[in-house]
Amino acid sequence: MFQLVYISKAKNRLSEPDLLKMMASFRSRNTTNGITGLLLYDGKGTFIQLLEGELNAVQDLYSCICKDPRHERINKLHEQTVEKRLFAQWQMGFKRLDTCDIVEHEGLSEFLNQENGFDYLKQNPEFSIQLLHYFRQC
Ligand SMILES: Cc1cc2nc3c(=O)[nH]c(=O)nc-3n(C[C@H](O)[C@H](O)[C@H](O)COP(=O)(O)O)c2cc1C
Repeated sequence: MFQLVYISKAKNRLSEPDLLKMMASFRSRNTTNGITGLLLYDGKGTFIQLLEGELNAVQDLYSCICKDPRHERINKLHEQTVEKRLFAQWQMGFKRLDTCDIVEHEGLSEFLNQENGFDYLKQNPEFSIQLLHYFRQC
């Protein structure tokens, strides 16, 4: 099993219906391709996504994602081989950080108050990983 985490910036502001439509199509493709994971969106354009699956499936998807015109500034933060999936039940979980009820995670409100969340994550890559792990339990 292989895991990859990246961050990116949406090119245009995405509405709730846009996001839900995107998620429905990602989930159906991920079921076919054996991909699981979690996508976090900060409400201001920053994505954090963890992809997991067979090495080839994850790499192929990541190269499609890198060419996707809906976002830019795609930065890989982390990749590793793992024994088993972290998100086995999630064809692609989705959490919008700005409207979620759970704000007791240390650092989340500080992150959401940042003028530029994307740059903050680029400078603090371990914070993205912490958020992904945190939202796995929610
Ligand atoms: C932020 C973001 C996350 C994405 N996540 C996935 C995903 O989990 N699974 C997926 O199949 N496509 C995902 N995509 C869409 C892919 O980039 C691509 O459009 C899709 O795989 C179809 O590729 P194709 O049109 O080249 O066949 C994502 C796109 C963006 C912008």
